[in-house]
Amino acid sequence: MLPKVLLVCLLDLIAVKSALGWNHVSRAKFEYIVNEKPLALVAFVAPWTEPSKALEAEWLAATSQTKTALLSVDCKTEADLCQEQGVISYPAIRVFDGSEKVRRYKGPRKASAIVSFLNRAVLRAVLPVVSTLDQKNITEFKSGDEAVIIAYIPEEEKALKAAFMELASRNHDKFTFGIASDKTLAKAANIQIPSVVVHRPKEGEQEVLPGPSGIDVLESFLETATAPSIGEFTRRNELKYMKAGKSLVYYFAPTSQDRETYRESLKPLAKKFKEYLNFVTVDAVEYGHMLPALGIQDTGSPALAVFNPMYGQAFPYDQKKITPETVESFVMDIVQGKVQPLGAGGEELKHTEL
Ligand SMILES: *[C@@H]1O[C@H](CO)[C@@H](O)[C@H](O)[C@H]1NC(C)=O
Repeated sequence: MLPKVLLVCLLDLIAVKSALGWNHVSRAKFEYIVNEKPLALVAFVAPWTEPSKALEAEWLAATSQTKTALLSVDCKTEADLCQEQGVISYPAIRVFDGSEKVRRYKGPRKASAIVSFLNRAVLRAVLPVVSTLDQKNITEFKSGDEAVIIAYIPEEEKALKAAFMELASRNHDKFTFGIASDKTLAKAANIQIPSVVVHRPKEGEQEVLPGPSGIDVLESFLETATAPSIGEFTRRNELKYMKAGKSLVYYFAPTSQDRETYRESLKPLAKKFKEYLNFVTVDAVEYGHMLPALGIQDTGSPALAVFNPMYGQAFPYDQKKITPETVESFVMDIVQGKVQPLGAGGEELKHTEL
């Protein structure tokens, strides 16, 4: 028999551990909260799977940074509930905001992204889909989100205004939209009228789409102008990258801290080559199985490889030091044919299925 004190300590430990991990709710609690709260974000998880495990710490961190209800449901114990919610892959994140149709959360599964999504959702309840801007509030508005889209459209440009309103209504859960119809605002910002401008205050950048455009042009402008210079490669965006018509520069590292540092330092290089290359970071723990096909031995340290999806060619980087300078010269060597792809002359390489 264990001494009672020890037993109590053990029980405490278990309690602490579960308090720090997932805190799944029952169906009753889920239904109560979703009906009571104006906004709730719910993760339907399969706790034993890697993607669900990967979400756990991010979800917890997000929970501590917001007042909005964040719930999780264990799809093993609440299988019926998950099925009713149409969950087919895990984790599935859904937005419950009282509207008829439950929406999917499509953003990155990172605490910071989840929190800013929620902040925007809360703000939206008080702000219109498109805010009207004047000289006094435009400056503050521009820096209010990771991406702020402002249309400089005079009243008479009815068609462009309608297209912009449509763009905003489709995307307002991801970005913040404003309209400046006073021509002096465009003049002050040195922007041609009419234009749609994407501001990214954190990056210190803005991209301008001048002239009248239809909704399709606006959509694709929005997508490219808001894409991060270096994204995180996952199952969910794999296809997009494979079809982008560009080679990929994969950076594999086991910790998110390491990948973040790489993204920061390689950003200028990624921008320089953005027409030809997609720089991405990859979680080496979750996607380590991709390494052999890229000619990389899994040693647990960060690794880099270039992959050309059009020709199925892989170029493993064989040096230890990964800096903007060494990566740039590696890329240049590939372009100039100084580095041969893996299996050159042999059979074509197939990209590993994820
Ligand atoms: C900016 O000021 C105008 C009044 O000139 C107001 O109508 C608008 O709602 C304000 N916008 C924001 C984002 O505060």
